[in-house]
Amino acid sequence: MHGDVRAQTVAYALLLRRLDPYLDVSSLLDGFDDPAAIAHAQEVLDAADIESVCALYASDDKDPAVYFYEQFARFYDPASARGRGTLYTPPQLVSCIVRGVDWLLRERIGVTLDDALVVDPCCGVGTFLRHIELQTEHRPKMIGVELMPAACRIARCLLREAEVLEANWLSDVPIDARGRVVAIVGNPPYSGRSANPCFDKLSMLGALMGEYRDGLRERNPKWLQDDYVKFIRMAQHQIERAGRGVVAFVTNHSYLFNPTFRAMRRSLARAFDAIYVLDLGGNVKRLDKLDENVFPIQMGVAISFFVRIAGSADSEVRYASIRGTRREKLSKLASLEPRSVTWTDAAPAEPFHIFVPQDSGLREEFYGFASLFEIFGEHTMGFVTSQDSFAIAFTKQEVLSRMGVLRFGQCAGSSSPLRMEADATRKRTEPRTPETACLPDLEDCHVEDEIIEVLYRPFDRRWAWYSRQSMERPRLPFMRNLMRQNLALAIGRAGQVTGSDEWDVVFVTDRPADLNLFRRGGAKLFPRYVYKGDQRISNMRVGGDHDELFAYIYALLHSRAYRERYAELLAADYPRIPMPQDERVIPKLAELGRRLMDVHLMRGFRPHPYPPRSGEGEARPHPSPPHGGEGGCSITIGGYREPEKCLNDRSGVDTQETAEAVRAAVARTLETRAEIDEMVTQNPPWRRA
Ligand SMILES: C[S@@+](CC[C@H](N)C(=O)[O-])C[C@H]1O[C@@H](n2cnc3c(N)ncnc32)[C@H](O)[C@@H]1O
Repeated sequence: MHGDVRAQTVAYALLLRRLDPYLDVSSLLDGFDDPAAIAHAQEVLDAADIESVCALYASDDKDPAVYFYEQFARFYDPASARGRGTLYTPPQLVSCIVRGVDWLLRERIGVTLDDALVVDPCCGVGTFLRHIELQTEHRPKMIGVELMPAACRIARCLLREAEVLEANWLSDVPIDARGRVVAIVGNPPYSGRSANPCFDKLSMLGALMGEYRDGLRERNPKWLQDDYVKFIRMAQHQIERAGRGVVAFVTNHSYLFNPTFRAMRRSLARAFDAIYVLDLGGNVKRLDKLDENVFPIQMGVAISFFVRIAGSADSEVRYASIRGTRREKLSKLASLEPRSVTWTDAAPAEPFHIFVPQDSGLREEFYGFASLFEIFGEHTMGFVTSQDSFAIAFTKQEVLSRMGVLRFGQCAGSSSPLRMEADATRKRTEPRTPETACLPDLEDCHVEDEIIEVLYRPFDRRWAWYSRQSMERPRLPFMRNLMRQNLALAIGRAGQVTGSDEWDVVFVTDRPADLNLFRRGGAKLFPRYVYKGDQRISNMRVGGDHDELFAYIYALLHSRAYRERYAELLAADYPRIPMPQDERVIPKLAELGRRLMDVHLMRGFRPHPYPPRSGEGEARPHPSPPHGGEGGCSITIGGYREPEKCLNDRSGVDTQETAEAVRAAVARTLETRAEIDEMVTQNPPWRRA
């Protein structure tokens, strides 16, 4: 056995013996022949105030033998604990999940929990299985699967009946159900950056995951790499193989509504006859103080029960949610009977097959409006540098001096960090031949012409060496459309990912913009014009006055009434644009839209931090802002709270006057939005006679 695993198990064995002198821990101590080390550890433990520790766990209804391991693992080997997503399930959740499984087995499959084979595919030291053994009357056959050897050995010691396999659940662990119905329960690891990467389509898991990627256009659906998604996929596979059964997991809840998971939702709906989702919310980024997480994590979570009887083409998806503080949620879950919950039919529908109930009338209305992709001909995602610290700077001079370093080797030659960064970027972005891989070819290009101002974050313009050499995806030649006189709407999809209270992923730009213009990335640019040679042509494909329509869209997307009405749909998709029946509405809103664009482009503010570029016409002078830019006005744009974000990021860079201009722009935004709201409320563009 690996020395570290042995030390870990021996230390935990001594702790367990201190907690419960009657617990037989001999299997954990077996073969460890260092009496001095044991005596020393024992001495430390004897001196510890174990009674207080136990009282602390008891106050949370936690079994210290199990739950102390979570702290122990994190302290002992933080990297593995983090990498393997070790986060133990509060007992209130465990008991609720077990009651739910028992109910669904009886109600939907007609067997009892005692007749089932219960599998926990990520059992840790046995949270779920020990609960069943000690806290319920049920005596099913049980198997725990655990990757970490120390946790595995401790689980074997703590569990009386269950078998514990040291294995990787994602490598297709053979489960011999021997005719029993299978119930897979547990809390899959929390690790967005999966410790089980699976890019190999030929592997078992890779092939299974293909179904969750089916039809997705996203280049890199990284959310699907999260371990919980793979655990669900493997559990689905095991139940399909067994024929009948239940999966009950507590996981990240993003898979319920995020568009990237639409193929996953379709696949689950095909494989299972009934799906019950108890959404526990708690997304910290939603800034909702009244809705806390039951785990000490940022993303919201849900308990999901998937029931397969025979596998149907049309599964029912039922949804319920619990909101509140952590304490309120746990106390509710402690006694909650899933069979008594008032479940709502989520009725998932195309195009996203969302597992959260939506107003079907509104959905029809929303999808009846024009999509941005119908209105605009060409579009692109924002640029990606993959190395902002190299490609982006606050001033042109800074970029130039970095290039000076590269061109003339002014500092530290080939080992200069900048030079190495540049090399790394170039190797990644453009694999070159050994002859062309060296830097001196920079001298051949007119690199200084490639230094331009870009929109980096809302109100935050910076300078970039805009080239394939310095960026991973400059999205040339498309972005050249935005290096000439032009405007583009920057719009994100699935607004709820930014964590703001309302949809807010819209901004305007007159130059190339960063993909991460918004907090969780995903800024797509819809330009007003595209250039064909020297010819500038409208990029809008619908009838009417295009300038007016462009500004109308901008105003509409800032209207609170619009954002609130279509909130659920905007949470998953790009906005759609209603065309008002009353022809006076577009010009009126367009006027406000133009004003808002001017504010966001920082035109006309005094002092002028960002003067318009030549050929753009005169900036409209702006009246002085309300409150003189003071008074703590703030808004969120793309999940960033402004002006705080901009002022923090640029602190020490801008003058006081420039900072005032950003504050003024925010104040002006609020004022203009109030006017937009009033107009939209009086003349809703979606109203039909
Ligand atoms: C979130 S913890 C859950 C622990 C415990 N079952 C509970 O609910 O309190 C996830 C557990 O999964 C284990 N794990 C991570 N990846 C695994 C894999 N590929 N196969 C099996 N277990 C894994 C971790 O070591 C950790 O013990």
